[in-house]
Amino acid sequence: MRVLSGIQPTGRFHWGNYFGAIRQYIAMQGNEQSFYFIADLHALTTVREPDVLRKNIQDAALDLLALGLKPEQATLYRQSDVPEVTELTWLLMTITQMHLLEKCHAFKDKKARGIAADAGLFTYPVLMAADILAYDSTHVPVGADQIQHVEVTRDIAQRFNGLYGESLQLPEAWVLDDSAKVPGLDGEKMSKSYGNTISIFESPKRLRKLIMSIRTDSTPVEAPKNPDTCTVFELFRLFAEPEQLLALAERYRAGGMGYGEAKETLYQAALAHFTPAFERRAQLEATPDLVEDILREGAHRARAKAQEVVARVREACGLGAKPV
Ligand code: ADP
Ligand code: TRP
Repeated sequence: MRVLSGIQPTGRFHWGNYFGAIRQYIAMQGNEQSFYFIADLHALTTVREPDVLRKNIQDAALDLLALGLKPEQATLYRQSDVPEVTELTWLLMTITQMHLLEKCHAFKDKKARGIAADAGLFTYPVLMAADILAYDSTHVPVGADQIQHVEVTRDIAQRFNGLYGESLQLPEAWVLDDSAKVPGLDGEKMSKSYGNTISIFESPKRLRKLIMSIRTDSTPVEAPKNPDTCTVFELFRLFAEPEQLLALAERYRAGGMGYGEAKETLYQAALAHFTPAFERRAQLEATPDLVEDILREGAHRARAKAQEVVARVREACGLGAKPV
């Protein structure tokens, strides 16, 4: 069994990324057979400033390690440190049917909005298939938006196996807990593209300011309030124990509590939750060589596996010298 997932370094990770994905990757780590990588080649389809990309990649590594990814319990690496993946991308591209890619949402959405797409965006799902297939991955934890890409991966693997004989392991998507759909400052789904995010490693001062800016309705302080329709309460749910949640819900319903107070409660809970990770992050930041070593060691382990799979694939499709 091999669990594998990737996350794009397109900006600082936010609460949605944490509760919707990262926290669950960390819960699933168990041995170095689990592979998690920073999808820097995918990020190239959107981040076009080298210094920004470099910083994003470094931040992604620091964030993941500070949040609890343990190099001895999971392999962490940069996607681009395993060149076999890009080689496999081409080998897969030669048997990928256009219609599979034409229906993929990242490309379809751009096209529908009349924006010109690059070949990289169009073939993005083939790179993702190579990410998965290069390591004989069996389980791919992803958010609902990525299920389509795992299906495409399976289609590609099946077609390759049909043409050249059984060479590639068919993976399964493990759909991450959707109940953790985290709302943003405006109550819509938290997402970088909506500009409504709260980053995980926000400074306490900015964190407080952001929380105070969460959109609420205009129910006066004295009036009873409905916790079930309030973004502040929904966010508090992510951090609170059941009894703390119940206590705050009662205060909402009783009236006499303003949203400012609820926001303060949320701020304190978030701060307490992330303080240990903040401390770990500061230590890691002070030891950049250690972080680099972790990524290199991860890539070394990942590459050993990818080389084995790519050799098998090359041979299956007739490349290289005839095996003796
Ligand atoms: P963004 O929408 O900010 O660009 P990504 O698409 O890069 O975020 O998301 C990376 C991972 O985080 C995905 O697995 C996705 O399912 C998860 N994720 C992102 N936003 C949320 C959210 N608001 N609630 C739950 N999960 C989320
Ligand atoms: N496309 C994924 C996303 O945007 C990231 C990703 C790249 C990935 N390669 C992957 C996820 C392989 C799982 C497996 O979230």
